[in-house]
Amino acid sequence: MKTKQIILLISSLLSLQLFYGQVSVKDLRCEMLINPLGIDIKEPRLSWLLSSNERNVQQTAYEIIVSSSKEKLSKNDGDIWSSGKVESSQSIHISFSGKELQSGKEYFWKVKSITNKGETSWSEPAYWSMGLLNKTDWKAKWIGYDKASSWDSITQWSRLSARYLRKKFRTRDDIKRATVYISGLGLYELHINGQKIGDQVLAPNPTDYRKSFFYNTYDVTDQIRTGANTIATVLGNGRFFTMRQNYKTQKHNTFGYPKLLLQLEIEYVSGTKEVIVTDETWKLNVDGPIRTNNEYDGEEYDATKEFPGWNNIGFDDSKWIKPELVAAPPGNIVAQMSEPMKVMQTIKPVSIKPASNGKYIIDMGQNFAGWLRLLVEGKRGQQIKLRYAESLQANGELFTANLRDAKVTDIYTLRGRGHDLSLLPGNMESWEPSFVYHGFRYVEVTGFPGTPTINDFEGKLVYDALETTGSFVTSNSVINSIYKNAWWGIASNYKGMPIDCPQRNERQPWLGDRVIGAMGESYLFDNAKLYAKWMQDIEESQTAEGAIPDVAPAFWNYYSDDVTWPAAFITISNHLYNQFGDITPIQKHYASMKKWMEYMKSKYMKNYIVTRDKYGDWCMPPEGPTLIHARDSSRLTDGMLIATAYYYKMLSYLQRFAGLINKKDDIKTFGVLMDSIKTSFNRTFYNKTQQSYSNNTVTANLLPLYFGLAPDSLKQIIFEKIRKKIVEDNNGHTSTGLIGSQWVMRTLSDYGNTDLAYQLTTNTTYPSWGYMVANGATTIWELWNGNTADPGMNSQNHVMLLGDLLTWYYENLAGIRSDKTEVGFKKIIMRPNLPTGLGFVNASYNSMHGLIKSDWKNNEYKFEWNITIPANSSAIVYIPAKSAGDIMESGKELSENKDVRIIKWEEGLTIVQIGSGQYKFISHIK
Ligand code: BGC
Repeated sequence: MKTKQIILLISSLLSLQLFYGQVSVKDLRCEMLINPLGIDIKEPRLSWLLSSNERNVQQTAYEIIVSSSKEKLSKNDGDIWSSGKVESSQSIHISFSGKELQSGKEYFWKVKSITNKGETSWSEPAYWSMGLLNKTDWKAKWIGYDKASSWDSITQWSRLSARYLRKKFRTRDDIKRATVYISGLGLYELHINGQKIGDQVLAPNPTDYRKSFFYNTYDVTDQIRTGANTIATVLGNGRFFTMRQNYKTQKHNTFGYPKLLLQLEIEYVSGTKEVIVTDETWKLNVDGPIRTNNEYDGEEYDATKEFPGWNNIGFDDSKWIKPELVAAPPGNIVAQMSEPMKVMQTIKPVSIKPASNGKYIIDMGQNFAGWLRLLVEGKRGQQIKLRYAESLQANGELFTANLRDAKVTDIYTLRGRGHDLSLLPGNMESWEPSFVYHGFRYVEVTGFPGTPTINDFEGKLVYDALETTGSFVTSNSVINSIYKNAWWGIASNYKGMPIDCPQRNERQPWLGDRVIGAMGESYLFDNAKLYAKWMQDIEESQTAEGAIPDVAPAFWNYYSDDVTWPAAFITISNHLYNQFGDITPIQKHYASMKKWMEYMKSKYMKNYIVTRDKYGDWCMPPEGPTLIHARDSSRLTDGMLIATAYYYKMLSYLQRFAGLINKKDDIKTFGVLMDSIKTSFNRTFYNKTQQSYSNNTVTANLLPLYFGLAPDSLKQIIFEKIRKKIVEDNNGHTSTGLIGSQWVMRTLSDYGNTDLAYQLTTNTTYPSWGYMVANGATTIWELWNGNTADPGMNSQNHVMLLGDLLTWYYENLAGIRSDKTEVGFKKIIMRPNLPTGLGFVNASYNSMHGLIKSDWKNNEYKFEWNITIPANSSAIVYIPAKSAGDIMESGKELSENKDVRIIKWEEGLTIVQIGSGQYKFISHIK
C-alpha cells in the first residue's frame, strides 16, 4: 500500500472512531410501549429513537437481537431473533419476525443502527413479556358473589359494597420469577403480602364486556416469598356493575356483579413451576369498609369496618365465606395494550373557607378529574362528607344543578384511635377513594373534626398514563390560556377511553366529540394506544347489519344512524396513521368501516344524498337559554348537507386506506360513488342565485369547500361567503357548532386568512374560547355560553368545541406537521402562518421519531426561526422571506450552506430541505 493510501485509511478509521458514539439509539419501544408486560400480539412492532448532535443523521441499516434471557442478550446470542443487518431507514414499527413467541415468556432485545455518520453501539437492553395467548393457558376460574347484600340497593342509585377476596398459599422453593395475570371486573386492586401491587388506578380499562375485556400482567417476583404468602384483591363496580341499575334499561347497559379471574404463575429457581388460581378455595367478604362505590354517586368508606391485616399473611379469615364460582363474561379475554390510568399529578388546594352550617368549601384553583385525599385525626365513627362540584353559586355554596342526578359524594367514617395501621404520625388517618373519580374544582366538606386547613387535603389528577408530548407558548396570553385549559380538559376526559365529561351522570365515550379533536390532542398527549384501543371499541359496537352507535363502548344504547358521530372511526384511524405511522387500525378495521359505509348507503342514500342526520351543527351559537341548538333557524345548517358532505369525506379517507392496504377495486368503486355524490350534492345544495350552499351558513359553505365538493371555479367565491359571514354577520366571531368547528381554523388559513383565524382564537367576547377564559374557565366548556346556559346540559369540562383549534396551533402557528406519505414525522413539513400581531411561538412536539422544535420570533421585518429536526427525519421548510438571498442560516447565506438545499424560491416564501439537527434561520419579511 502506498503511504498516501495508508494515511487515508488511518484517517478514515480515525474519523469512524470519532463518529462512533456520536449517534446513539435510545427509548426502545415494543408496540409503542416501554417494556410492556403480558402483550398478546404475536408479531410485536419494535421502535427506537436515534439521538445525535450532528446534523443530517440518517439510518441506513439496523440490526436487532431478541433473546430468551438477559445473559444470552449480553452475549449477542439472538436465540429468538437475529435480524442480521437490514438495509432500511425505518426505525419505527419494525415487525418482529423471529421464532414463535410463547405464552408467558420474557423476551430481551436490543438494537443497533448504522447511519451515514457511523454505526451506533448496541442500545441498552429492553424487554417485553407475553401474556396468556391461548384460552387453555387459563387455569383460573371466575369467582365472585352474584347477589346484593341487605345493605346494598339495586335501584337508580345503585349501591353495592366492594368484594374482598383473599387466598393463602405456601411456596416451596426459592423464587425465580412470579407473574400475576388478573382480570377483576369492573375494577380491582391487587395486594400481595400486605403490599399494593402497581401504581395503576381504576384498572382495567373499560370495554364492552359482552365483546371483550382486559386482563393485566404484573411481575411480582419481589413480592412473593419462600414459605407463607397471601394474595388479595378488592373488586369495585366500574362500568361492569354500572352506575344505574333497573333504570332506563333500554338505554343503560349493565353486565353483572363484579368478578375476578386471577392466575399467579411461579417459576422456582429449581426449574419447577406452580400456579395459584382463583377457585372455590379462596375466601370472600363483602361486609368490609367500602360500603358503596359508584362512578356517578361516589364512594363511602367506613374505616370501622376494616379488616386489619386482611391483605397480609397471618390474618384469620375463618369467618370469611367461600366465593361463588360464577359465569365468565361473554366477551373475549384480551391483554390490555393501552396505558393504565394513574394519579398523574398532585394538586394543592388554593383555599378553604367556612360556609353555612359548619361546612367548608375547598377551592382547588383548577377544574380537573380525580379525587381528594384527606388527612384527619378524630374519633372512631365520626363521618366526613366530601361533595364535589365544578363551580359555586353566588352565595358561595356549591353549584350542583349541572351534575344532574349524580350525587358525587364521598363519605369517610373514621377509624379512630388505636386502629391506625398506616405509618402516619400519631393518630392521623389518611384516605382516598379506590373506585370512583369526580370532575371538580370545589369540594364541600362536612363533619371534619376541628378546623380543616388546606394542608389536610390533596387533589389527585387521574388519567391514562400518557406522556405529555407537546409544549406551546406564544406572545399572546389568550392563546396560552386556551392551550392550558385544553390540556386540563383533555387530561380530565381520558379514562381508559375518551369521555365527554367527568362530572355529571354521563361520562360517556361519545364519538362525535373527538372526530377531529383526537388529532389536535395527539400533539399534547401520546394518545396512540388509547385511540387504537378506542377504534377496537368502536368496531366491537357495530351491529350485525353494520350500524355504528354514537357512544362506544356502547355503555349507552345510541344507535341513531348518524354519520357525523361514527365518522370518528375513520378520521381517527387516519390520524393514527399520519401522526404515529400506525397502520394497524386501518388494516384491522377496514372491513368494518366499509361495512358501516355500505349500511348507511343502503339505508339512507337517495339520489346520492344521505338523508339521515341526528345532531346538526351541534352546539352552534348563539345558543338559546334552554336549548343547545341555535334558536334562530336561519342559522341552522341543513342536516342532509352535513351528512352527505361527511359521507363524501369519509369515502375519500376510505379510498386512501384502500390504496394503503392494496384494495384496488375499492379505490375505483369509491371513486365512482364520490363522483356521483359530488354532482348530486352541488345540484341539491348549491344555490346559483346566492352563489352559496344551502342557506349560506358558515358550516354549509365550509364543508363543501374543505372536503373538495365545491368545484374549483367556485372555491374563492365560497370562501368569500364564509369570510363575510364571520366578519360582517358575526362581528368577527365564531358561528359554528361542533361540525363547522372541526374545519374552520384550517380553512381560514388555507385560504390566506390567518389573521381572521387569529382573531377567532384571541377574541374574549361571546362566542369564543377566550370568552370562556375571560369568565374564569380553567378547562373548555361544553357550550359557548357555559356561564349562562341551562344547567341540564352544561358541563364545564368538555373538549368537543376545540374542533381543529389545537391542530391549527401546532400545524399552522408553530408550523409543525407530518408529511402524508412519509408519515409519523419521518418527513416533517415546517410551515408556520404568521398572524399580524403575534410576536413569537415557541413549540415542541415529541414525535415517534423524536423531538421537533419550532421557535420563531417575528417583528414584522425580521423573522428569526430556531428549528430542531430529530435524527433519521428530514424536513421541508417554508421560510417567510422577501427573497432567498436574504435568508441566513446559522450565520451563512443559503447559497453557501451545504446543510440546506433550496427547492424553490419565490417572493415571500423560500422552500428548502434540511436533514436532522438544529438550525437557525434569519430573514426579512418586508
Ligand atoms: C354529550 C355530548 C355528546 C352529545 C350527543 C351530550 O350529552 O355530552 O358531548 O356528543 O350528548 O348527543
